[in-house]
Amino acid sequence: MASYYAIALLSMLAFSILVATALDDKELKATLYIKQSFAQDQRPGGTDTVIINWPIKDGPGDAANTIGHAEGLTTNANPAKPFWVTIMDMVFEDGSLAGSSLEVMGLHSYKNINLGQGQWSVMGGTGELTMARGIINYNITQEDSASRTFELCIYVYYTPLDAILALGDVGRKP
Ligand SMILES: *[C@@H]1O[C@H](CO)[C@@H](O)[C@H](O)[C@H]1NC(C)=O
Repeated sequence: MASYYAIALLSMLAFSILVATALDDKELKATLYIKQSFAQDQRPGGTDTVIINWPIKDGPGDAANTIGHAEGLTTNANPAKPFWVTIMDMVFEDGSLAGSSLEVMGLHSYKNINLGQGQWSVMGGTGELTMARGIINYNITQEDSASRTFELCIYVYYTPLDAILALGDVGRKP
């Protein structure tokens, strides 16, 4: 009898956890742009490494608004290959995502390699985008000796802060 109740209780718990996850998750699908200008918004950080502060734009052209910055670094970790590992905090300062950030990491190369396309992982976030995880499919839509433009298709699941325990709730006894 005791084990029957234990199983019933366990299945109720499993059910409520699944329901809570489904209700709390939200989806972000957005197309944004990063403009990499080689002579500005970045500086040398050591051998094969560049510290970046690339503007995040809401459109592809010069008239687009800067809505944040991709802050971090990019490094040619394997010098035998033309790929750069970028580790960046996409910090949103303006527009509907202002006050939030996405933690992003992955490889990119040049426009003439892999059609200029690839994926970065989204492994976290802050603000409205807490618990973010997902992918960014990017396409290098412009590249010359001065700059490169990435078109980003962002696809992320996240759980907003108000669905998460407040600081004072941590460790609180029933
Ligand atoms: C990638 O960008 C190029 C422009 O450089 C465009 O011709 C191509 O259609 C784009 N590819 C995708 C999958 O969006």
